[in-house]
Amino acid sequence: MTERAVGEEARCGSAPRAADRAAVRPGPGAARRYDDRVRTNPTSTPGTGETPIGPTGRPVRQFPVPEELDGHGPARIIALCNQKGGVGKTTTSINLGAALAEYGRKVLAVDFDPQGALSAGLGVRTHDIPTVYDLLMGAVKDPREVIQPTNVPLLDVIPANIDLSAAEVHLVNEVAREQILASVLRKVSGDYDLILVDCQPSLGLLTVNALTAAHGVLIPLECEFFALRGVALLIETIDKVRDRLNPALRLDGILATMYDSRTLHSREVMERVVETFDDHVLDTVIGRTVKFPDATVSARPITQTAPEHAAAHAYRALARELVERGAVA
Ligand SMILES: Nc1ncnc2c1ncn2[C@@H]1O[C@H](COP(=O)(O)OP(=O)(O)O)[C@@H](O)[C@H]1O
Ligand SMILES: [Mg+2]
Repeated sequence: MTERAVGEEARCGSAPRAADRAAVRPGPGAARRYDDRVRTNPTSTPGTGETPIGPTGRPVRQFPVPEELDGHGPARIIALCNQKGGVGKTTTSINLGAALAEYGRKVLAVDFDPQGALSAGLGVRTHDIPTVYDLLMGAVKDPREVIQPTNVPLLDVIPANIDLSAAEVHLVNEVAREQILASVLRKVSGDYDLILVDCQPSLGLLTVNALTAAHGVLIPLECEFFALRGVALLIETIDKVRDRLNPALRLDGILATMYDSRTLHSREVMERVVETFDDHVLDTVIGRTVKFPDATVSARPITQTAPEHAAAHAYRALARELVERGAVA
């Protein structure tokens, strides 16, 4: 299904809107279940010689380690969006950024949520320093004065703090108010291979700025009952931004997060998500683990605090899949 088709369905009220209403019931593909044995043997299902089936119901694929780059930039910009809070936008921004940095990609993570969780999660303090708010308001012209390094080599941050909550009000009367973040990021695009924008849980002007600046959108969806609620509206917003402001905007993928293969519920939600979004659903799925709250406290990505944990490997797989799909250089 193309992005356009997904959008059409959203507008016409078929798949995503139907999914909004639908309780999560097993679909026709219910027989093809994720096989837990994939975890221990990713290349074949023991005893059968068959290719194992991943959590999406598709055969498990291995993504190659990305080739080294000769230099850095220009950056591709990916916005992490979902107006629902607590679905893994910030966790994914941090850990995907760190995983891509491990593969030699130079990454800038933009904290675009006044809560400042991305900044905190990467150990960057946010008070008494210039933030993304100052860049949006034009008080600081050069993003390099705002960019902070992190404990992860090749991963930098533009921090945010509660000041950002005032930005929407201040920007409303600006000329080209939807394009302000794009013009800020253009100034440093040449320094990075990837810019990740961690959006706040809303579809307001800040998120529209992120979608206008972006080449692609990554939508994290938590594998729980109401996962699809509101996604139609999100797809509609993406479509409007594509029609009016940013014709090149792509849907880079839907990322299932907090998946628990032991629960029927998680598997059913996963099935419904794949039925609705088909190939847009990334093969890589992030499992539920208590390690993430731990990593947040230590202000480092899980790729550093628990480098061999399944979730660290999952975020590396996500990084490789996005390179394979052409969403990242
Ligand atoms: N895969 C996961 N398993 C368990 N907890 C997770 C996972 N991903 C994120 N979390 C936790 O869920 C909460 C919300 O995640 P977060 O990334 O902040 O979501 P968002 O940015 O969408 O609001 C955080 O406490 C985070 O540590
Ligand atoms: Mg967040």
